[in-house]
Amino acid sequence: MGRVLKSEDGCSDWNREFVFTDKDFSVLRKLVNQYTGISLSEAKRELVYCRLSRRLRHLNLKSFKNYCELLQDNKSNDEIIHFTNAITTNLTAFFRESHHFDFLNRHILMPYAKRGNGNQRLRIWSAGCSTGEEPYSIAMTIMDSRIVIDNTNVRILATDVDSSVLATARAGIYPLEKLKSIPPHKTQRWFLKGSKINTGYGQVKPALQEFIRFRELNLMDAWPMRGPFDVIFCRNVVIYFNKETQRELIDRFADLLMDDGFLFLGHSESLFKVSDRFRLVSQTVYQKIK
Ligand SMILES: C[S@@+](CC[C@H](N)C(=O)[O-])C[C@H]1O[C@@H](n2cnc3c(N)ncnc32)[C@H](O)[C@@H]1O
Repeated sequence: MGRVLKSEDGCSDWNREFVFTDKDFSVLRKLVNQYTGISLSEAKRELVYCRLSRRLRHLNLKSFKNYCELLQDNKSNDEIIHFTNAITTNLTAFFRESHHFDFLNRHILMPYAKRGNGNQRLRIWSAGCSTGEEPYSIAMTIMDSRIVIDNTNVRILATDVDSSVLATARAGIYPLEKLKSIPPHKTQRWFLKGSKINTGYGQVKPALQEFIRFRELNLMDAWPMRGPFDVIFCRNVVIYFNKETQRELIDRFADLLMDDGFLFLGHSESLFKVSDRFRLVSQTVYQKIK
């Protein structure tokens, strides 16, 4: 009988249609790590099989050995994009870990408003933004705060390695079911209810989208932006990296943050034994030490 996996895993039924050897898995693990920094444990074998079987079917390949050869062939770099997109885990939600947005409002935006923010800039980076729920939640929090916004002082950069999730993020169209985690007054203010072919969907209003720049960026590569950022959200991303990769990445975040800037991590992530350049100021919220 087929094994049932979560819908997040990309398929609901798992039957061995292709030969998948230890060597194939080992090659794929190395490639994933090389391209994305993601460390796949032995326990992810079925997940990898499940998510990549679709690619094999699509490419009409007979085995995982053929697929590994295709990925290792420098001329077929296009497949690396599909491979990366298939392997990343993109689970997200509006106002996920809502205490982070309360902290953002109370401890970052309110002091910013009090300082009188005439020409002050506020730069926020959502690193590993997936389908956009995180940067839109940040944008709604900012827009509904007391800070005075003009066209230049607030910018949110939202990046991800996965090009397919970024397309969803840019479109800003979500099933109404997904909007349920947004406080109703915010949904009313920032979403348009779809009609005709968009019935059952809500669309983010352009007035919210204009503060966000969505860009494809692999965190393992060189970064084109110079910063500094006031805040970096990198939640539920580093959990997929090994400790050494986490250390290097967090160090680069620290370099790009303002003195006293904030780093938000996911609920099961921590800087313990990873970095001493931050102090913990709230639940999975860190502040850079000057
Ligand atoms: C589980 S989602 C988290 C989304 C959001 N930050 C949240 O907490 O709801 C992890 C995201 O990190 C992205 N990601 C994984 N490795 C990455 C890398 N090397 N560079 C950039 N993004 C990466 C994945 O594509 C995925 O969209």
